[in-house]
Amino acid sequence: MAISEAYLAELKDRCDLEAVVSRYVNLKKSGRGMAGLCPFHSEKTPSFHVMREEQYFHCFGCGAGGDVITFIMRIENLDYLDAVRLLAEMAGMPMPEERADDGVAALRRRILEINREAARYYHGVLVSEQGRRGLEYFTARGLSAHTITAFGLGYAPDRWDSLLKHMTEAGFTPEELRQAALAETGRNGGWYDKFRNRVMFPIIDVRGGVVGFGGRVLDESKPKYLNSSDTPVFKKSRCLYALNAAKSSNETLILCEGYMDVIAMHQAGFTNAIATLGTALTTDQARLMARYCKQIIVSYDADEAGRIAAQRAIGLLDEAGLGVRVLRIEGGKDPDEFIKTHGADKFRMMLEKCGGHVEFRLTQEKAKYDLSRPEQKVAFLKKAVEILASLSSPLELEVYASRLAHELEISKDSLIMEAAAVKKRGGQNREKARLRKEISSAQGAGDRVNPEKVRHLRAANAEEELIALLYGSPALLRQMDALITPGDFVTVFNRRVYEALRAQITAGGGAELSMLNAQFTPDEIARITGMLVKWKVSGTSAEARDLAGVIKFESALQRNGQAIAEAAAGSAPEDMNNEEFRNMIKVINRAKTEEKNGGGNC
Ligand code: GTP
Ligand code: MN
Repeated sequence: MAISEAYLAELKDRCDLEAVVSRYVNLKKSGRGMAGLCPFHSEKTPSFHVMREEQYFHCFGCGAGGDVITFIMRIENLDYLDAVRLLAEMAGMPMPEERADDGVAALRRRILEINREAARYYHGVLVSEQGRRGLEYFTARGLSAHTITAFGLGYAPDRWDSLLKHMTEAGFTPEELRQAALAETGRNGGWYDKFRNRVMFPIIDVRGGVVGFGGRVLDESKPKYLNSSDTPVFKKSRCLYALNAAKSSNETLILCEGYMDVIAMHQAGFTNAIATLGTALTTDQARLMARYCKQIIVSYDADEAGRIAAQRAIGLLDEAGLGVRVLRIEGGKDPDEFIKTHGADKFRMMLEKCGGHVEFRLTQEKAKYDLSRPEQKVAFLKKAVEILASLSSPLELEVYASRLAHELEISKDSLIMEAAAVKKRGGQNREKARLRKEISSAQGAGDRVNPEKVRHLRAANAEEELIALLYGSPALLRQMDALITPGDFVTVFNRRVYEALRAQITAGGGAELSMLNAQFTPDEIARITGMLVKWKVSGTSAEARDLAGVIKFESALQRNGQAIAEAAAGSAPEDMNNEEFRNMIKVINRAKTEEKNGGGNC
């Protein structure tokens, strides 16, 4: 669906970029705008800038950039229309009339509607006679009526088609239910409900939409939990259970393994508990958490599997720039059981004294070695020194080094020295990796947005500069049209950008990033913003002429290959004035004609 420029202009007026970004990033004044730590990559010094006047953002570290819509698309993981919708909600503007022909968005809306209705249905069943077994189950597990309502818990009856029946009566088709991952067809083609005889946990995303379900059996049968498969509104690897309820408690989130842990914790007053959906933690989930808090307390099950999962999670959370503490539950299998056995106060005490991840990792490692044997002790020390080397605070290093030194009866100073040496080596490796990355990006390797740029650097640079010029001075378009056509552009991506801008300006509007969001991905928008930041253009028609000249020259070279390249050899295009350029074009055109005629005569 196309959204009018007028609508977007009003939306952007009401949703000031700086105000929106400030909800996610701590911004401080810097030059003409504001700066802060980039929410799209982890960094320690701010390279994320918001330009007030131009109303765009740009990160000099990772290259992310765009306007307020791009920002929301990226940070909330939304497509264009949903980002506009979210901003419209913030601004209190109704969405423009939505046309049904936007396939994917319409399907997503439909699935959300279906899920919401299904959640309502399951909950209704739970609190009715038909759902007595479910309610008894939850009650036996200690959940209060208030908790059951707050989490919208439900029950799927022990029948093959109760949801299908309810939903078709409500106007949805079985095929639509399949798309929502709530119904399936058997071998004989008959439809049946996916969730049967299970207590139901609706999964709600940060915008309050029901995106999927988890369902648990009431007995010991298998599988214990069943989760919705992925749908257009649900990706297990990107969702976190209860984040919608936990996200406002900022600072710290407690990450658990299961639905029931989260619910028990919320009921006990720990309303910052969340969980993955039965899968190992992913990078996407770690980043999602990093948008809402600074620190995570990993509170996994006490068993071996839980310990291994915690160790893995620590790495991912650390990479996402989050502080990590690890809760080791002693005297219970998981948080749910612990709270039930020992009460919320004990759990709170455990939370308060739970160690940082350094202590956790040291304990983990130590358990692997027999420290009474000298060679094992040395092996453990090597590992321990590596862990110490990862500490950025000298104070922390001091604390852990002296504790270790005491335990192992060795000198603290030698531990600290060893750690410093490892750190230095690691630092050198990191520096090398950074340089490699810089060099390869300078060479354009891995440039997915404009893969041709690396081969046509000169043309691409002139194209980008011309785009920045047109963006800044749309009034130059008429002159540009006389000098150059989109067909002259060498790289396809830049041609698309130029064409889109041209169309926008021709249609009577100014050049606006917000109009481009519908046609370009956030990565592409970031590149376009990068052009605007990078190329300082004067906005004169002389500049337009020079740039158009370079592009036409390069594109003629492209089209005419070797002969022209030879004709051009000896002249340094940078120094060419317009007279020379015109001559060059003449040479090129002559060469072209000769080529054609020559071909015909042979
Ligand atoms: P309760 O027995 O209800 O207390 O569950 P739990 O959370 O203690 O269960 P467990 O530690 O076994 O599992 C943790 C999480 O893994 C659950 O919340 C589910 O999300 C997921 N899970 C557990 N069993 C299964 C299963 O059989 N299939 C799938 N897909 N996920 C499961
Ligand atoms: Mn449990």
